[in-house]
Amino acid sequence: MIPSIPSIPSIPSIPSIPSIPSSTSSTLTSPIMRAARAIAHTNIALIKYWGKRPGAPDQNLPAVGSLSLTLERLRSDTTVGPAERDSFILDDIAEGMPGFDTSAAAKVFRHLDRVWSAAHTTPRPACAVISYNHLPTAAGLASSASGFAALTLAAAASFHLDLTGRHDRGALSALARRGSGSAARSLWGGFVRLDRGERADGADCRAHPLFSQDHWDLRLLVVHTAKGKKPVGSTDGMQRSADTSPYYPAWVATSEADLNAGERALADRDLAALGAVMEHSCFKMHSCMLATVPPLLYWNGTTLAAIQEVWEARRQGLEAYVTSDAGPHVKVLCRPEVAGPLAARLAAVPGVHTVDTLAPGPDATVELL
Ligand code: PMV
Repeated sequence: MIPSIPSIPSIPSIPSIPSIPSSTSSTLTSPIMRAARAIAHTNIALIKYWGKRPGAPDQNLPAVGSLSLTLERLRSDTTVGPAERDSFILDDIAEGMPGFDTSAAAKVFRHLDRVWSAAHTTPRPACAVISYNHLPTAAGLASSASGFAALTLAAAASFHLDLTGRHDRGALSALARRGSGSAARSLWGGFVRLDRGERADGADCRAHPLFSQDHWDLRLLVVHTAKGKKPVGSTDGMQRSADTSPYYPAWVATSEADLNAGERALADRDLAALGAVMEHSCFKMHSCMLATVPPLLYWNGTTLAAIQEVWEARRQGLEAYVTSDAGPHVKVLCRPEVAGPLAARLAAVPGVHTVDTLAPGPDATVELL
């Protein structure tokens, strides 16, 4: 089960760790920054991204575009505010507490630097970041997508970026991409396309919304087949595939056609066409991963059993299609009326922990505190 965490988190008061003041005192607003809170929902790629363009690692430029569905409920809720020194609290775990992830904190502070320097030349002020992930972290459910999208939006508002002008959502999407490629897509709800772009500075590598949340009432089932973190992170895995997989060039060369086919199928609300290209993109990506040296095998036996169960159900008239990311879980796309019976079948597959049923989710939001 995805833990149910209250949607409006209380800001924890932990001695000796600077936290964002809960009053609206003048410390919350300063000429250089103020406290802001953003909520961004995670997304699942229907047409996948795997691999980065060479050079400019800090730009994090994908080798291929991608097309995603933003999901309801699964989200990151992030507050950025002024502080005496940088601090990061994730799901109530602060520095010095068991389970605190120092490298995740370093990535967060690095990302704050990027957002700050988009509009300022002075040194970045210290920040307190408090974040809640209402989804399992690093288990193949892309907490990095919602996490970096929410962080980008909260920081941009906090740092007085011009959100209706030079730093509109498109520009923020390009900034979010530098934290995580999939995060570029989580600024919007519904169906989103991230373009590969051509420019070395990444300015044209940003996502844009294709269709809003209510364009097409689909369901995505998330079939959990394991617990815990994935063994190889996506950045390392992508580098290994680019370096060693003989299928990598073919993967890159055929992506654009899949993106266009996916976009067309979405426009037509043609589930058979969308499902076909979605599965093709997924299995091409995993073939490329499997042909990496050493192999990248993110699946387990239950992953395969769940995929086969979906295909068997489809043969029997329950129309549904699978996809899977850099992790063992299976995501299944179907119409709402199919979701209930299919979820029941998948929950009965030995090894399946839980099945969540999710509708399309909303745009990311931000508020000043
Ligand atoms: O952007 P990252 O590092 O979360 O990588 C995403 C990679 C996949 O989830 C496998 C595919 C995708 O497009 O989301």
